Amino acid sequence: MVFLDNVVSLTKRRGFIYPGSEIYGGIAGFWDYGPLGVELKNNIKREWWRHMVQLRDDVVGLDAAIIMNPQVWVASGHTESFTDPLVECKICHKRFRADQEDALTSHEREHGGKGSWTDAKVFNLLTEVLLGTTEPKQKTYLRGEITQGVFVNFRNVVDSTRVKIPFGIAQIGKAFRNEITPGNFTFRSREFEQMELEYFVKPDEAESKKMFEYWKEERMKWYTSLGMDKAKLRFHDHEPDKRAHYARYATDIEYNAPFGWSEFEGIHHRGDWDLGRHKLQYKDDVTGEEYTPWVIETSGGVDRAALFFLIDSYCEEEKRVILKLHPRLAPVKVAVFPLVANKPELMAKAQTIYAMLKKSFVTAWDDRGNIGKRYLSQDEAGTPWCVTVDYDTLKDDTVTVRDRDTTKQDRVNIGKLVAYIEEKLKEESYA
Ligand code: GAP
Repeated sequence: MVFLDNVVSLTKRRGFIYPGSEIYGGIAGFWDYGPLGVELKNNIKREWWRHMVQLRDDVVGLDAAIIMNPQVWVASGHTESFTDPLVECKICHKRFRADQEDALTSHEREHGGKGSWTDAKVFNLLTEVLLGTTEPKQKTYLRGEITQGVFVNFRNVVDSTRVKIPFGIAQIGKAFRNEITPGNFTFRSREFEQMELEYFVKPDEAESKKMFEYWKEERMKWYTSLGMDKAKLRFHDHEPDKRAHYARYATDIEYNAPFGWSEFEGIHHRGDWDLGRHKLQYKDDVTGEEYTPWVIETSGGVDRAALFFLIDSYCEEEKRVILKLHPRLAPVKVAVFPLVANKPELMAKAQTIYAMLKKSFVTAWDDRGNIGKRYLSQDEAGTPWCVTVDYDTLKDDTVTVRDRDTTKQDRVNIGKLVAYIEEKLKEESYA
């Protein structure tokens, strides 16, 4: 069993994730990604973009502004319905979500099992911002979902590209929610990143249901193809009273985290909610037919994916801690070690190999301590391969490549080293 505390401590110790603004006491719901964390997040986003946009003919990309005209959020229903029910403890005035019963019960225990709560009131999650130099300043919002940027650009994309329904627009970017109770490490943050696809289909019940099922399977496959344990993943259908205001139906992909089954991607049938509210239509230039397309959405969190890939790959063996991250997600692909640091010929040769590998992969250098300690350090960072330059290297131009998971070692010719690693990175399935 993986304990969240162990993962949290590793991510801080090794520079994956730090608490936001830590030197000033932190700020609830904000996190900073360190040198390894930013590589991991970039790799997740790169893999997603490649799979969802670049390898497909029916999806194009977009990068819309975070701040939009406030009318967007009125039309989309967010100013009215993007809410959680909030209650306040009458004893200590702490605020909670009324629908999170476990948190309420656990808080009541702090007051000897007694609960005294205010009536639930509706709390809007949009984060307000004030713009401009003259009073009154213009009030708008940081986007609560990245989605609306796609809808308001629907006509621009149709007019400026050759897309034809069915097609999708994909986007990755930051979203902000004034969450009442941020928590479970990065799981519920106030600033986070989403990777979303809005896929436009004809307004047809059977066709849209088919696409909904198709995208559910596609998204699940993506996580397992990157090594996530199938047994820890499941679909969870939303009951009608639990669906977001825009959703006709919705299914979550959930991960069995140390804090229980938790959503990390939503697949939503948004029907004509958004394009209808923005009064946008599509014209089929062959049939002349005009209609409001329906939307199937896949909406994943980059931070939740990073957290669950970290938890899923965390592994304690007798003498080592390993992050068995899929090599394509691993922040550092290869580390280079001279066998010893006090032999100039070994150091020079190892530096040449390091410089060569750096041009193709994120490569680390380590000449501290002994080889065993260097392996342990790279295992904890999730580095799939370590290259050791030894005395034989000076004679025959070969190096030892040690595999993180099996600890097996191959002897590889320096001239073939880049191809050797590239080949391994191409392996599609890792599960
Ligand atoms: N556009 C649809 C939408 O935003 P959502 O279910 O509210 O749907 C989609 O969010 C995904 O965004 C979630 O599955 C999760 O991965 C991520 N997400 C949502 N709120 C989050 C938060 N407070 N912290 C971290 N990630 C969050």
